Amino acid sequence: MQKITQYLDEQAERHEQELFELLRIPSISTDPAFKPEVLKAASHLRDHLARVGMEEVMLHETAGNPIITAMHARAGQDKPTVLIYGHYDVQPPDPEDLWDSPPFEPTIKNGAVFARGASDDKGQMFTHIKSIEAFFKTGTDLPVNIKLLLEGEEEIGSPNLLPFIQDKKELLSCDMVLISDTAMFDENVPSITYGLRGLAYMEIEVTGPNRDLHSGVYGGGVQNPANALCEMLARVKDDKGVIRIPGFYDKVKSLSVEERKAYRQLPFNESAYKRHLDIEEVYGEEDFSTLERVSARPSFDINGMWGGYQAEGAKTVLPSKANAKVSMRLVPDQDPREIAQLFKDFIKSITPPGVKSSVREHHGGRPASVDFNFYGVKAAAKAYKSVYGKDPLYTREGGSIPIVADFKETLGADSILMGFGLSSDAIHSPNEHFALKDFHRGIKTSATFFNCLSDF
Ligand code: BES
Ligand code: ZN
Repeated sequence: MQKITQYLDEQAERHEQELFELLRIPSISTDPAFKPEVLKAASHLRDHLARVGMEEVMLHETAGNPIITAMHARAGQDKPTVLIYGHYDVQPPDPEDLWDSPPFEPTIKNGAVFARGASDDKGQMFTHIKSIEAFFKTGTDLPVNIKLLLEGEEEIGSPNLLPFIQDKKELLSCDMVLISDTAMFDENVPSITYGLRGLAYMEIEVTGPNRDLHSGVYGGGVQNPANALCEMLARVKDDKGVIRIPGFYDKVKSLSVEERKAYRQLPFNESAYKRHLDIEEVYGEEDFSTLERVSARPSFDINGMWGGYQAEGAKTVLPSKANAKVSMRLVPDQDPREIAQLFKDFIKSITPPGVKSSVREHHGGRPASVDFNFYGVKAAAKAYKSVYGKDPLYTREGGSIPIVADFKETLGADSILMGFGLSSDAIHSPNEHFALKDFHRGIKTSATFFNCLSDF
């Protein structure tokens, strides 16, 4: 490790510059206008991996964005094979005017790099590429076989990845999957994530009269789709935060007594949490702690809604249509398809007379959980301990990485969720950032992990 650590210290600045090059490419997957940029990020990575010394670097076309694979399988068949998964696509930077520096011009402030994708997931994904590079460039044999799988559609629910891994089972066969796309519990408090929530994302359209109407001439006599939509959405949850869709909780697995006890022992500081978000109170289902609410319980949220007049000034209008994008985060053993159907049935049943509603399903993903007695997780814990000087905590997180459940089902492989980011990195928000210290510690933890695996 000493040679590798020394190499990484010497190359630290170049590694940052290389990450910044990737961060300059606005590879936004949800907006088709950015397709050329997504393709640019993919070919940039392909060329980079070839330069680093990975073998069989391939860019696979899909019905959507390209998937990149690369191999280095020289450790021998008796050594474990680690499949590293990451995503090079990013969320839109909106609202762009709330950024302090341009989202695609990486800017260093307070020891962190600010850019869309800095933490989610380009920066975290890059840690593994640089750790592998260190083995190659120092002439150190990699003690494990490595396969890389990088996709460009994670932020839109990975629609083309499952068919790809089903088709390429042989190519991707592995003993475990390594993913850095989650957060540590806190600064200097490393953690291994053993559970992720799933997702069902839906869009509702409520249609009323055949044109926008004068709100004085018609108001009070014709159902207003925007009013109707608000009333309907207000019925999805009660005032205690309980979701009222019939059947919604049927498959929710409750926390075991031990797990609840473990949750209570996590060093969570609720006042700091509130302060950080500038809120006076937290919110959620009674009888559950904040940490439980955001990771072990399902949730319902409006992600955006529109309809009627939105420009400057006031226009008196009764809109003919109103829309909302909503998401439900799911926990084991909820199924996104079933939940989507329950949601559609519920919306239909509560649509008031005088308007029509339709519901469109966007992407979804299954919740995931990882057995933390798996030897790969133990090796990850040892690697964290050696770099951060602390044993990691074991946590569940509220975000989703849809392919994790499929890796288990299709490849039979457990995922090790080795996050280096922080919840405060502002992923999906303006001013996303990633501490450079954690970028470098991440690279070292990755390299140490590969070395530790043979100890178990
Ligand atoms: N990195 C996140 C997932 C994540 C965030 C895990 C925080 C743990 C903590 C990932 O890139 C992401 O945002 N996924 C989407 C998936 C969705 C579009 C299907 C998400 O969770 O919204
Ligand atoms: Zn994300």
